[in-house]
Amino acid sequence: MASISDTYLQLADGNKIPQEGFGTYKVTDPSEMETAIQTAYDTGYRLFDTAQMYNNEEMIGSALRSLNVARDKYFVTTKIAESNQGFQPAIDSLKDSLKRLGMDYVDLILVHWPVHNKFFDTWRAFEELKKEGLTRSIGVSNYTMAHLELLKTQANEMPVLDQIELTPQMQQAPMRRFGQENGIVMQAWAPLARGQMMDNPVLKEIAANHDKTVAQVILRWQLQVGNSFIPKSVHVARIKQNADIFDFELTADEMKKIATLDHYKRVSQEPELVYENDKQYPHHFKN
Ligand SMILES: NC(=O)c1ccc[n+]([C@@H]2O[C@H](COP(=O)([O-])OP(=O)(O)OC[C@H]3O[C@@H](n4cnc5c(N)ncnc54)[C@H](OP(=O)(O)O)[C@@H]3O)[C@@H](O)[C@H]2O)c1
Repeated sequence: MASISDTYLQLADGNKIPQEGFGTYKVTDPSEMETAIQTAYDTGYRLFDTAQMYNNEEMIGSALRSLNVARDKYFVTTKIAESNQGFQPAIDSLKDSLKRLGMDYVDLILVHWPVHNKFFDTWRAFEELKKEGLTRSIGVSNYTMAHLELLKTQANEMPVLDQIELTPQMQQAPMRRFGQENGIVMQAWAPLARGQMMDNPVLKEIAANHDKTVAQVILRWQLQVGNSFIPKSVHVARIKQNADIFDFELTADEMKKIATLDHYKRVSQEPELVYENDKQYPHHFKN
């Protein structure tokens, strides 16, 4: 049987990425981080997702070192914050991230959100950072199809991955198709819709059919549609539960039922407005 530790997706640059990984947004307590990472690694998670904005790179680096395994046994992603975009700031800020992580390289860096002002300069920095070996792969986050088409007009290399909000209530079918056609892996952030769908009757019925939880049904759906995905939990039982999705399969009929739950409903911000404002915009704008 497949398992979380041996299920990888191919990236267009020749590298591979674990299909399911571990999210760390809002984990800012070092001992909580250490327990979460140890549990996740022991459970089989091999991909750890952070960002400059999360303020936890240092404690993730320390928790990963405490595992006492070789650096190439796990995959680390970090994201360049809006305030660090631009050619030299992006280069300097990755070097700062590496210092905080205590690593010589990361596996993947992402532009956290597209911003119009520094759009091409930031990408030029990413291409350079890859050449220098400070990151193995380069990608983006929250880029729409239009942002990717724009990037293509000047990029020497295209992103191998786009980390986007992708859930049963925001299924992003056109982006998934575009990703397949252009060799860009789609990676779901907030893959559990931050808990917003746990009481959904359709998902509850499907969960009961398989003697699984709604969270496991949502993650199994992510697996079957072919995304990479990075659920976050700080609870040992949930970290294990979220990886225990390889011993059942959603039927074609169940997949069709889940397809009806797509309502273009976001848990967070609209990428186009972040692009226009050059920053994540104030909370009073939240939809
Ligand atoms: N690129 C971006 O712009 C962006 C944006 C947002 C997030 N991300 C990344 O994506 C990761 C995941 O997104 P997210 O953390 O926002 O949301 P998420 O993974 O969809 O949901 C996390 C929430 O669900 C709860 N949860 C986890 N497993 C559960 C289970 N089995 N049953 C019930 N509840 C469960 C967690 O609570 P407990 O922790 O209390 O268990 C937490 O409140 C982040 O951590 C971050 O690494 C990226």
